[in-house]
Amino acid sequence: MSNILDTIFLRRSIRVFDRRKVDQTVLIDLLKAGMAAPSASNSRPWEFILVTDEAILEKLQSSLAYGKYNRPAAAVVCANLSIAKNESAYRFWVQDCSAASENILIAAAGMGLGTVWIGAYPKEDVMQTLREILDIPEDIYPLNIIYIGYPAEDKDARTQFEESRVHWNRY
Ligand SMILES: Cc1cc2nc3c(=O)[nH]c(=O)nc-3n(C[C@H](O)[C@H](O)[C@H](O)COP(=O)(O)O)c2cc1C
Repeated sequence: MSNILDTIFLRRSIRVFDRRKVDQTVLIDLLKAGMAAPSASNSRPWEFILVTDEAILEKLQSSLAYGKYNRPAAAVVCANLSIAKNESAYRFWVQDCSAASENILIAAAGMGLGTVWIGAYPKEDVMQTLREILDIPEDIYPLNIIYIGYPAEDKDARTQFEESRVHWNRY
């Protein structure tokens, strides 16, 4: 069992996947990691769309300029302010949904899966593409689409630590 730092360094953007399907239970486990994330005042404004249907995945792949990768599954992380537990989500939904997204990426790395975060918000064209293909209503905000699968490319685990970015006690 790797320690948490090893898992964090292991997480890399994977853009080549093998054909193996990802079990639904595994996808649900990833969302358990996502929904364990911190959020402002614990408002949890998130909703997730899990995509496993090949025809829909192909449509996404062909429509997303920066997401043209073969992938067996995807998760779209969305904000729904109407179900948020309090109004903090109006200011902080991007951070809340980003925290959930990063939890998903790290959990996936720890489970031997590869992922890549394809940015949607604030790119209106990408958000619109996701809305059209996945029937996302106008008042739901898709932050990203995360492709998920078993990696078919090797990437080195690494930190990008730079001492020069660190300030102790004062800037
Ligand atoms: C907000 C955000 C948007 C991103 N959008 C894309 C994207 O559209 N397509 C893509 O292939 N990768 C995308 N990435 C992945 C980055 O390119 C990647 O994280 C970065 O190059 C560092 O590489 P690493 O993830 O292997 O550490 C995105 C990452 C973030 C956090």
